[in-house]
Amino acid sequence: MSNIGSYEDKIKNFDWSISEKELNYQDGNIINIGWYCSDRICQMGKADKLALQWEGFGGVEKKYTFNDIRLAGNTIGTFLRNLGVKNEDRVCLFMDRIPELYLSFLGVLKIGAVVQPLFSAFGDESLHVRLENAQTRAIITQKKHLSKVRRILDKLPSLEHIIIVDHYTSKPLQDKEVSLNLEKEPPVEEFNIFPTKAESPSVLHYTSGTTGQPKGVKHVHYSLISQYLTTKWVLDLQDNDIYWCTADPGWVTGTSYGIIGPWSLGITQCVLNTGFSAEAWYKFIEKYRITVWYSAPTAIRSLMKAGQEPVRNFNLSSLRHLASVGEPLNAEAVIWSEKVFGIPFLDTYWQTETGSIMITNFPGMKVKPGSMGKSFPGIISTIVDAKTFKPYNEYGKIGLIAFKPGWPAMMRTYWNNDKMFQRKFKNGWYLAGDRASIDKEDYFWFIGRDDDVINTGGHLVSPFEVESALLEHEAVSESAVVAKPDEVNMEVVKAFITLKPGYEASDDLELKIMNFIRKKLSPLAMPQEIEYMDSLPKTRSGKIMRRILHAQEWGEEIGDTSTLEDEE
Ligand code: WTA
Repeated sequence: MSNIGSYEDKIKNFDWSISEKELNYQDGNIINIGWYCSDRICQMGKADKLALQWEGFGGVEKKYTFNDIRLAGNTIGTFLRNLGVKNEDRVCLFMDRIPELYLSFLGVLKIGAVVQPLFSAFGDESLHVRLENAQTRAIITQKKHLSKVRRILDKLPSLEHIIIVDHYTSKPLQDKEVSLNLEKEPPVEEFNIFPTKAESPSVLHYTSGTTGQPKGVKHVHYSLISQYLTTKWVLDLQDNDIYWCTADPGWVTGTSYGIIGPWSLGITQCVLNTGFSAEAWYKFIEKYRITVWYSAPTAIRSLMKAGQEPVRNFNLSSLRHLASVGEPLNAEAVIWSEKVFGIPFLDTYWQTETGSIMITNFPGMKVKPGSMGKSFPGIISTIVDAKTFKPYNEYGKIGLIAFKPGWPAMMRTYWNNDKMFQRKFKNGWYLAGDRASIDKEDYFWFIGRDDDVINTGGHLVSPFEVESALLEHEAVSESAVVAKPDEVNMEVVKAFITLKPGYEASDDLELKIMNFIRKKLSPLAMPQEIEYMDSLPKTRSGKIMRRILHAQEWGEEIGDTSTLEDEE
């Protein structure tokens, strides 16, 4: 029997107080996600239960019980407090998926500070704009990423502390740098958790839009109410499950469902900190007897590409429930997983901004391959007309996905950019920025994004950010960046550029520019292809028309360019 039981019953009598009651939370109480994910689980008698089963390169293993993660959170919290880090200060986590990343997440929250997780493959510029925007006070990182922080430190007056978790040598550190070696630090038993309330800020995730710099999505501790219940009902986690979320906590899936959801339910989770290969992943599932697996379409397509042969070499019979998020899950992937694993991947749809799953397939519900499923109980969702923002009253029409604001995990604003936040609401609806339709049985069918943001392997990349970075290369005069279709990643970044006088188009220059972007932004933002142009298509007022280039890449009709010419 799944946790949700009957979807129809749950929808009828739904109230978020169901989650509040299970978490023993009442309006006005203290609510601290760090405490809920560790101390409370220990108090419930699961102190010795395994919380984190970690594996790194070369098969190195580490294990942490709920008591271990409780103590580590206290230790990190104490260390930060001793440095003078206070509640609501922003603390960036800039690490690979090492245990310290997960433990620091709890430690930062326990002192009421705000976690700012950033993908460790980010280059100097990506790191800089996000730390600057958040006026981050401290960053917790590894030796291998230290040089990036050092290179931008002068430009970040708010950044006072650089904490290095693996500085084991006596090599001197530089100004503002300190070493925190968890294995040497005495564990802190008694700790005063900061009394955060429902609306206290918790996590600040950066996400990319079409224009402007990345935006910091502000979440609060009350988000737990959504994250706990969606984890319980959609991912269906039960006490004896062994759970694996493949997402990096640099992105929201890796925090909402890679830390908060499972640990607030007292579930054992596994983390694999190595690169992708079908064999390595299947081996991991077999070794730890993983039962519930939350992943993404790009990974699933990569597994499909590797074929059925590797599946046969491993015993994957422990798997009982699979879910996916981040990009459209094609019907073939659902059918394939049913064939090779005996169970389908269930699609879930949500965003950094929504903080928790909004539209989804539940265990036990009829799956329509290719559809994202139905609204989570308590979520009022619809499709609105793109001009009037009024919900359609007929089925099958394509419009914008819209949600009635008010669910617990909804973002509270964009950091220092409330104007942009307000723009997401029209006619009383929160607009997700995606296009879809609904069928007669209330299933949602995803069509595409309503903006130019590129979704590559489930990660959003802003064309504006890449275009700006390209212009900083000495050879580049103008740039336009669009998505290009890709078999595995669905979309990859493609750049069109014109060169400055004195530069010649060549393969060598293309590679140099690609590398320049990889280092400055990230491997994901790096164009997979650069096309040299004599000039870029522009409107009469000089605005580059990405749409024409996009249509060319996707083999679509460009349509009437005379109207595009006038478009602003
Ligand atoms: C896309 C990730 C189709 C969508 C949790 C959304 C999806 C954006 C799906 C959010 C899905 C997410 N089917 N598209 N099941 N899930 N998306 O903020 O465009 O990194 O707006 O959050 O990913 O990406 P974000």
